Amino acid sequence: MRSHYCGEIRKEHIDEEITLCGWADRRRDHGGVIFIDLRDREGIVQVVFDPDTKEHFELADKVRGEFVLKVKGRVRARSDETINPEMPTGEVEVYGLELEILNRAATPPFQLDEHTKVGEDVRLKFRYMDLRRPEMANNLIMRSRITQAIRSYLDSNGFLDIETPILTKATPEGARDYLVPSRTHEGHFFALPQSPQLFKQLLMVSGLDRYYQIAKCFRDEDLRADRQPEFTQIDIETSFMDEDQIMALTEDMMRGLFKQQLDVELGELPRMTYADAMHKYGSDRPDLRIPLELVEVADLMKDVEFKVFSGPANDPNCRVAALNLKGGNDLVSRKKIDAYTKYVSIYGARGLAYIKVNDVNDLEEGLQSPIVKNIDLETRKNLLERLGAETGDLIFFGADKKKVVNEALGALRCKLGEDLNLYTCEWAPLWVVDFPMFEETDDGWTSLHHPFTAPSCTPEELKAAPGVALSRAYDMVLNGTELGGGSIRIHDQAMQQAVFEVLGISEEEQQEKFGFLLDALQYGCPPHGGLAFGLDRIVMLMLGVESIRDVIAFPKTQTAACVMTDAPGIVDTEQLNELNIKLKAKPKAEETPSE
Ligand code: AMO
Ligand code: AMP
Repeated sequence: MRSHYCGEIRKEHIDEEITLCGWADRRRDHGGVIFIDLRDREGIVQVVFDPDTKEHFELADKVRGEFVLKVKGRVRARSDETINPEMPTGEVEVYGLELEILNRAATPPFQLDEHTKVGEDVRLKFRYMDLRRPEMANNLIMRSRITQAIRSYLDSNGFLDIETPILTKATPEGARDYLVPSRTHEGHFFALPQSPQLFKQLLMVSGLDRYYQIAKCFRDEDLRADRQPEFTQIDIETSFMDEDQIMALTEDMMRGLFKQQLDVELGELPRMTYADAMHKYGSDRPDLRIPLELVEVADLMKDVEFKVFSGPANDPNCRVAALNLKGGNDLVSRKKIDAYTKYVSIYGARGLAYIKVNDVNDLEEGLQSPIVKNIDLETRKNLLERLGAETGDLIFFGADKKKVVNEALGALRCKLGEDLNLYTCEWAPLWVVDFPMFEETDDGWTSLHHPFTAPSCTPEELKAAPGVALSRAYDMVLNGTELGGGSIRIHDQAMQQAVFEVLGISEEEQQEKFGFLLDALQYGCPPHGGLAFGLDRIVMLMLGVESIRDVIAFPKTQTAACVMTDAPGIVDTEQLNELNIKLKAKPKAEETPSE
């Protein structure tokens, strides 16, 4: 029907006769001349109808917002005073010759240019309208370009695009599974894949090395701004490559993507060990745009009177660390410190001690703080020296279990970076390596990555001291977000069994859950490894949007529901009977969110 997209029309089209199809973004009547801003996915162009084209002019008068139109017209230059430099099509307009109303539209549930005033629930309920907004359409167009660029890179490097099942068995990636009842196998359930992890490893056993897939993954976990229950991975696996080669290849792919799409040079990615990342930034995904570092001060605090510090300073499971905000005295008010104290309490911190350095040379009177009275002069001096403190600085402290201090001060560091715009660069990518194999929880050891990641020690060493074993895993981090993660895998049955053993998975359970993998490992499994990037997160960062939901056409809400289709929904008894399922209680009708 159309000859051009609205958003494409430029000066070079002047005098051409074109046909456009799109939606009426706005209609204005300017004393006998009707202007229609016609919109399609590529942008907006101004169309003008005057009474010379009588029948079409009269029709144009009937057009309302979001009517679907077909316009035939001639492109002409706008007069100098009507040029709109804000619009890519702002130098031209289309003189309307013919108009056809292809469809009418009811009054939209919200004005497309006033989306910020309407709640996200309403935007999601009428998502098809929300996606008409140029901003949202652009996000999806960019997403498509990114996917295409990645496919093209992987394809030209010999990777095969292979699909793996959606109806499958549980793949442990640390979240809860979405289960699907089987009708043909009464009482049995499929699990939706948390990732294609085991299938891609089996493809390596098959010899189909260099696999990739733009794969949907499903995880029933607590949602955040960068997490969705259903999300997309760029999933990659190779054989006969070591971690350096896999990192080099995937890094090259990301560098190329940023250069091509954003003209940004990411440069060579630095590598940081997990231990260093936790020590300096309190996080395994440090945001290196922020020039603040956690400094260990436990050794200085062992004998101070202040029990809040000396207690943890003498406990090997605890940490006492400080964060020196240079010049922070003028940047952060008392009220703001109270707000930050509340903020760190989310991470379990029981307080946020601080010192305002009013005069670094006056240890008695120059330090304004609720805690210095309990810290002797010698320690004050050593502390200021350790932190490189100067007059005007503001020092924050965390003293607690290591996990609490790392999470609280790590989060505070990012919050200060954001609030005070401390960023020193726009993009700060890195690799985090040398992760521990396991972490200890109340339920014993759990994998930090997943149980198929190879350790960098022998099975005997692993079993003897699981707490110190490091893994051959690597994460790519960008601006404080984990973009992707992967590892060299276990390709030896004895090693895989050793890992399962440490995780407390009995032999019977190993067979039941992973028998097929253990079997496959016996039949000539090559050394292999890979990585998966979160596509949604890559797109989110590249577009600079705050929420992962803004780069997904039909995302779920924070409570993992779709307000447009009302999924998940109630199913009728007949269907449940077929599945041999009986509900313990009648499901409660859910409130639909207010509009
Ligand atoms: P992992 O669990 O680290 O590894 O996931 C890889 C990447 O997927 C993205 N991601 C998510 N994105 C949006 N919403 C979520 N809920 C979500 N969860 C994860 C992140 C993350 O870095 N099979 C392994 C990969 C491998 O070892 O090859 C895996 O799934 O960007
Ligand atoms: P308190 O002695 O509990 O009144 O605390 C004195 C100061 O230490 C206050 O500024 C608290 O915010 C801070 N504080 C208390 N507990 C901790 C902790 N675990 N880590 C860091 N600061 C703390």
